[in-house]
Amino acid sequence: MKRLTVLVSGNGSNMQSVIDAADNGILKGLVEVVLVISNNPSSYALKRAENKNIKTVCMERKKFENEKSFNYSILKELQNVKTDIVCLAGYIRIVGQDITDAYRKRILNIHPALLPKFGGKGMYGRHIHEAVINLKEKKSGATVHFADENYDTGEIIIQQEVEILENDTPQDLADRILNVEHQIYPKAIKKVIENLK
Ligand code: GAR
Repeated sequence: MKRLTVLVSGNGSNMQSVIDAADNGILKGLVEVVLVISNNPSSYALKRAENKNIKTVCMERKKFENEKSFNYSILKELQNVKTDIVCLAGYIRIVGQDITDAYRKRILNIHPALLPKFGGKGMYGRHIHEAVINLKEKKSGATVHFADENYDTGEIIIQQEVEILENDTPQDLADRILNVEHQIYPKAIKKVIENLK
C-alpha cells in the first residue's frame, strides 16, 4: 500500500474522487490516503476528510515568515506521515523546491485544461474556462501531470479532451471538465504507482 497525501485549497471534489477510489475503486488495496493538508481554513475539503477520519492539517501561508518556511513545514508534515505520493487537488499554490526535490516524480497535479495551453500563474478555476471560451477554442479538457517548482509545467501523465459546445458558459465547461477530472485522477495515480514498483 502506498501512503498518499492530498494538498487542497477549496471544495475538494478531486480529493474525494481519490479517497473514493482508494476505498472502493481502482486504487483499493493500492493506496491509503493518510493526510490532507489545506492552506485554507475554510476549505470544504477539510470537512470531507474529517468525515472519512483522515488526518487533516491546516497551514496558512500568512502564519509563516516566508514562502520557504511555509513549504518547509509542509515538507515536515509529509515526512511525519511517511507519505509516498503527494496529490495536489485544487491546491492553488506551488509547492517549492524543497518539496519537489524530496518527492521528484511523486507529486501529481490536476489541471482543468489541455496543458501546455492555459497553464501558468493565475490560470486556475474559472479564469481558465473564461479564457478558453473567449479564445473560441474547439476543445478543452483535463490534465494530470507531475508537479515541479513552476506552475503547470511538469511531465504529463494523462490528458483527456472535452468538447466545447455552442453556448457553453465557463461554468458549463468547468462542470463537464470536473467530471472528467474525477475519472482521470485515480487512473493517473494508479499509473504512477505501477511505475514505482
Ligand atoms: C479543479 O477543477 C482543479 O483542476 C482546479 O481547481 C478545481 C478544484 O476543484 N485546479 C486548478 O485550476 C489548478 N491550477 P476541487 O477542489 O473540487 O477538486
